[in-house]
Amino acid sequence: MTDFATAVLAWAAEHGRHDLPWQNPRTPYRVWVSEIMLQQTQVERVKYFFERFMQRFPDIASLAAATEAEVMPYWAGLGYYARARNLHKAAGIVSTTTSRALPESLEALTELPGIGRSTAGAIRSLGQGAYGVILDGNVKRVLCRYAGIRDWPGQGSVQKSLWSLAASLTPTASTAAYNQAMMDIGATLCTRRRPACERCPVAEHCVARAKALTAVIPAPKPK
Ligand code: ADE
Repeated sequence: MTDFATAVLAWAAEHGRHDLPWQNPRTPYRVWVSEIMLQQTQVERVKYFFERFMQRFPDIASLAAATEAEVMPYWAGLGYYARARNLHKAAGIVSTTTSRALPESLEALTELPGIGRSTAGAIRSLGQGAYGVILDGNVKRVLCRYAGIRDWPGQGSVQKSLWSLAASLTPTASTAAYNQAMMDIGATLCTRRRPACERCPVAEHCVARAKALTAVIPAPKPK
């Protein structure tokens, strides 16, 4: 395991969040729904919507059996309604397969509407006990700063290097704890403005911190 992952996991044991609704109990379906909600909405806001959604649609079968019109009210307030439509559509697709369960391969997961590479990595690691690499906006910011990547992270070539960096740092053991910690570090310490480097477990080798570049990394989209 890399020193980076060791430091992140040590931080997670002490400071990581273990009491989020989708962590108790952790099932692939609950992780999936939470990850879709968390794509564009912050944790605190998601909590209420997640609990309410789970009461009404406790499993894939109940979601698939509902009409889109029955699902949408449970998304009202979260915005980005395409997420709810895709979730419902994907539940319909999954419920027609022989297992009636979420697939486990990265390829099959990313074929479902609304599930991109990072969300698939989160579902695999957090929900299925499998290996998965994540690279959402928060994790991108952490990695860009750590590696001192000054180009806009949305650029194709930069995305590519970020994915290989993310993969090379993600441990094959304790993958879920590591991924959850990376998202937590991005959301709570390595914030866009005024990051809390003094509390960051990987600050020692962080390029942006050493060169005082946290204000300019990640770079904004070029005009
Ligand atoms: N953002 C996306 N996924 C998340 C998760 N599992 N925990 C916290 N923030 C997240």
